[in-house]
Amino acid sequence: MTDAANPPEGTNPLTPVLTRRWLSPRSWTLHTYEQLEGYSALRTALSAHPDQLIELVKAAGLRGRGGAGFPAGVKWGFMPKEPSKPHYLVINADEGEPGTCKDVPLMMADPHSLIEGCVIAAYAMRAHHCMIYVRGEALHCVRRLHQAVREAYESGYLGRDILGSGFDLDVVVHAGAGAYICGEETALLDSLEGKRGQPRLKPPFPAQAGLYACPTTVNNVETIASVPYVVNGGSDWFRTMGREKSPGPKIYSLSGHVENPGQYEAPLGTTLRELLELAGGMKDGVPLKFWTPGGSSTPLLTADHLDVPLDFEGATEAGTMLGTTALMIFNETVSVPWAVMKWTQFYEHESCGKCTPCREGCFWLAQVLERMVDGRGTEEDIDTLLDVCDNILGRSFCALGDGAVSPITSGIKYFRDEFLALCERNRSTETADTALVGA
Ligand code: NAI
Ligand code: SF4
Repeated sequence: MTDAANPPEGTNPLTPVLTRRWLSPRSWTLHTYEQLEGYSALRTALSAHPDQLIELVKAAGLRGRGGAGFPAGVKWGFMPKEPSKPHYLVINADEGEPGTCKDVPLMMADPHSLIEGCVIAAYAMRAHHCMIYVRGEALHCVRRLHQAVREAYESGYLGRDILGSGFDLDVVVHAGAGAYICGEETALLDSLEGKRGQPRLKPPFPAQAGLYACPTTVNNVETIASVPYVVNGGSDWFRTMGREKSPGPKIYSLSGHVENPGQYEAPLGTTLRELLELAGGMKDGVPLKFWTPGGSSTPLLTADHLDVPLDFEGATEAGTMLGTTALMIFNETVSVPWAVMKWTQFYEHESCGKCTPCREGCFWLAQVLERMVDGRGTEEDIDTLLDVCDNILGRSFCALGDGAVSPITSGIKYFRDEFLALCERNRSTETADTALVGA
């Protein structure tokens, strides 16, 4: 393993790591990747013992970048050490959380960093099969991955006896069909098995019974693409970025009312104020009103939260979650109830229907919000919304239900007046109608 004091050439703790090749000419080709130290970590990793790699990833404190932040090394450590069944590594590339656009750009710009990470992770977990499950709508990305996987096979980075190490790995790129729920890891596994994608009961967790009931680890794209840098730079170097419990670099995606929307790599713990500076500030200088720290499944924040450190702990302390670091930014022109209604319609549409609280609850939440936004709501509707949310939160089968209530409860918490104003508007219309009837 590389000395921690000698990080990969061309990087330092404050400059981009994961995105460092993105602007290179034809960055997605094997040729460019190899020119820029690509596959050097794999050579190092294949000469180490698999358990050493698991310990390295644990020591680096690399946490899952898909939203939940579960420590990657700990998850790898759940896989049996003596395989009695085939082991699988599954990459969750079904990036579907509203506002999230980090994994697809990563795979488009630098697919070999994901493939190199896959081989290292599979080697560490004694897996000889890896599936990359890509969001069906991102066909351009599926094509790019197919091309990169083919290049990797042709150059001996995949297939039999990789780089003469005796280790074999096959990688299959699989396109989903566009269902949000298939980003939930067990629904994704069902979908891969050819079934309708619906969440499974956990436990058993995938490490015990995953794909085809075999030990499986499901990791996000950005998590696995971080692994080669951990191997090359060492755990101490990785920990020089970010915060103690949330170390390392992170890709934040900014969308909405910002001058330059896009992907910004920064250490975990960076604040929205700092990210807005990188993105050129609010569009046309119109002030910020509300924003999501990690997609619509994470509670909304406001202009009072510009200095919240965007790492797993900082977000939780502010009453929200880091999620997918998809920052959707809204200025003063946007109605909160309207935005909340749009997100709720999304969850209603994407609810898989397996459990009653989410299936029925999301339907009724959308109905009530549509009525309010349409100017036909009453003050009691706010209580009805909160009551239905209360019956979904913690009572649903998977995280989709909990996520669906986040924009509603946080929207009412910070902008109750706007919801009330919609009801007031209805009341004054009703009064005018009554007056007309009376006349
Ligand atoms: P989770 O906390 O249940 O699990 C996280 C990971 O840790 C899973 O791989 C799970 O198998 C593993 N794990 C947790 N406890 C374990 C244990 N005791 N033993 C073994 N393994 C264990 O979270 P989940 O449901 O996987 O993800 C929810 C998150 O996904 C949300 O925070 C949300 O932000 C994010 N999300 C991301 C989307 C995207 O497009 N990237 C889409 C929708 C949600
Ligand atoms: Fe399906 Fe929603 Fe229940 Fe999850 S919470 S199992 S998406 S119905």
